[in-house]
Amino acid sequence: MAKVELRNVTKIFGKTIAVNKVSFKVSDGEFFVLLGPSGCGKTTTLRIIAGLEDPDEGEVLIDDKVVNDIPPNKRDIAMVFQNYALYPHMTVYKNLAFPLENMGLSKSEIDKRVKEVAKMLYIDHLLDRKPAQLSGGEQQRVALGRALVRRPKVFLMDEPLSNLDAKLRVYMRAELKRMQKELGITTIYVTHDQAEAMTMADRIAVMNKGRIMQIGKPHELYMKPANLFVAGFIGSPPMNFFDASFVVKDNKYILDAGSFKLYLPSDIGEIIAKQYEKGELVVGIRPEHIDITDKKEENTIEAEVYVVEPLGAETVIDAKVDKYIFKILVKGMINYNIGDKIYLKPQIKYIHVFKKSGEAIV
Ligand SMILES: Nc1ncnc2c1ncn2[C@@H]1O[C@H](COP(=O)(O)OP(=O)(O)OP(=O)(O)O)[C@@H](O)[C@H]1O
Ligand SMILES: [Mg+2]
Repeated sequence: MAKVELRNVTKIFGKTIAVNKVSFKVSDGEFFVLLGPSGCGKTTTLRIIAGLEDPDEGEVLIDDKVVNDIPPNKRDIAMVFQNYALYPHMTVYKNLAFPLENMGLSKSEIDKRVKEVAKMLYIDHLLDRKPAQLSGGEQQRVALGRALVRRPKVFLMDEPLSNLDAKLRVYMRAELKRMQKELGITTIYVTHDQAEAMTMADRIAVMNKGRIMQIGKPHELYMKPANLFVAGFIGSPPMNFFDASFVVKDNKYILDAGSFKLYLPSDIGEIIAKQYEKGELVVGIRPEHIDITDKKEENTIEAEVYVVEPLGAETVIDAKVDKYIFKILVKGMINYNIGDKIYLKPQIKYIHVFKKSGEAIV
């Protein structure tokens, strides 16, 4: 059981600021996800927590104690790497038992723990095989098992599902989440996959270029993204954006995009009026918050069907509006032809408005 905290951690490699003043607190038993695009500093952050990398600035605390000077093997942390490696000449049983033998546990205690973990990960029928005789997904589970048997205080996982096929990945997401909750081990999990982060995390820290962009529960990041980066990174298909200016006319609050206008309810309008500094705004609306109608009315946007992407249970319509392609997510199978004229009706209460600098207003 452990808490983990980073205070203003910075790591520089030559000219690259890999991690830039990163701070966060992970509570005991929490499933905390670091989410961000390739190269944003996720692995470096994990390696600093594990003690495999020294920060240039800042502190790492475990249970309120600074551990900067404590070597990796004394931190009681287990890490599963992006490219896990099993011992090829050892059986699965031996791979799992090995870390425990190093800890000096008795044979019977080792046997008990290995079998417990193997059962939990559904690899108990594979204990006599060698890694080369396992599928990729089975190998990945053995790698997880090898970290788990030690019952560390903290579990660090770097994209542990990246080598699995789509179906097994979705299955393992659920298994890992259940296992983490069952064991209650504080976990910091790295991924660039927003769906994985959303489905698994208690809280997510979104990173970009070494910095934390926002920390929150999955639904907070989805409903109230703090900036354009988070708004565009969370959600699939991603949020639609367009430029607009804000106009107050005859006591009406209007977002004017040039070729169309949206009238805002007064509560939203007043918030924008208070924070608005002259200049362009960026407006965002998620694909699932746009309805399609066949007639022009207030707050509809005229559009032309650009392409239709059926997904089975849902359909994504790509519609051309001015210089933009909007994505609209609708339930069921919908048939449109390319070039059909449609009207988009954004659900105004779900609209997001950002300053050009990226900061969210509403
Ligand atoms: N040992 C190193 N020497 C020099 N630069 C490094 C080193 N390790 C990482 N970097 C750089 O630091 C930045 C962050 O790298 P990091 O591996 O932490 O990213 P990441 O978020 O894990 O990316 P990915 O999703 O691709 O694994 C990158 O620009 C990377 O090139
Ligand atoms: Mg990485």
